[in-house]
Amino acid sequence: MARVALVTGGSRGIGAAISKALQADGCTVAATYAGNDEAAAKFTEETGIKTYKWNVGDYESSAAGIAKVEEELGPIDIVVANAGITRDAPFHKMTPQQWQEVIDTNLTGVFNTIHPIWPGMRERKFGRIVVISSINGQKGQFAQVNYAATKAGDLGIVKSLAQEGARAGITANAICPGYIATEMVMAVPEKVRESIIGQIPTGRLGEPEEIARCVSFLASDDAGFINGSTISANGGQFFV
Ligand code: CAA
Repeated sequence: MARVALVTGGSRGIGAAISKALQADGCTVAATYAGNDEAAAKFTEETGIKTYKWNVGDYESSAAGIAKVEEELGPIDIVVANAGITRDAPFHKMTPQQWQEVIDTNLTGVFNTIHPIWPGMRERKFGRIVVISSINGQKGQFAQVNYAATKAGDLGIVKSLAQEGARAGITANAICPGYIATEMVMAVPEKVRESIIGQIPTGRLGEPEEIARCVSFLASDDAGFINGSTISANGGQFFV
């Protein structure tokens, strides 16, 4: 039977490429989005992938949304916690609001996405969890105290869940994308972006599909012995 996959932030950017890759693998995919109705409708029209709107930063909305997905598509086997935002500012200018918004979406949002699905995975003795962290959670980044903190925290979530879920057939892994050609990276001032590209040995930004292929592998039945790992896909910009 086709596996059911949930991809948060799955209708745009890296998330859209992940949703399409999992669909191509034979999964029934649900893609969530936070606000852009137009992009979500266009995505569904183009791909046939169902989209669901909720704020991953809110536990009750996440739990209700997940219950609806499971009612419509069946129990969720694969979770890709991808939804993420930036609110970049040098630390001396960063506001508590910029801190909190990023924490709510990128860190608490990962908890809110996995927690309601976890008991079912434990019962069914199967689960694949993939969290999209970032190179900047590994190395830090100027103007991203908030973002880097959440992305480093996401790695802690994965490493802990990997230990808790292993006996129940659940794996949890992270991918740390480097700079990928998405709206998020294109929003970085051009001069800064050019200097970042100069730091990437491959000499270019990554493509969303290059991250999606990593997810596809980690989500597959074949990847059962890979648990608690972090795949860095960054064109050689940073090694750990
Ligand atoms: N390293 C060192 N210095 C930097 C810098 C960097 N990466 N980026 C900016 N600066 C410097 C500037 O040159 C400037 O210095 P001067 O004052 O001496 O000229 C100073 O820091 C910026 O000061 P401003 O007061 O002008 O800063 P600002 O309030 O206008 O903020 C900014 C500008 C938000 C920092 C902007 O430069 C920016 O967006 N930088 C990019 C941050 C970044 O890389 N974000 C990653 C987004 S993509 C992503 O997050 C996806 C992923 O996972 C990889």
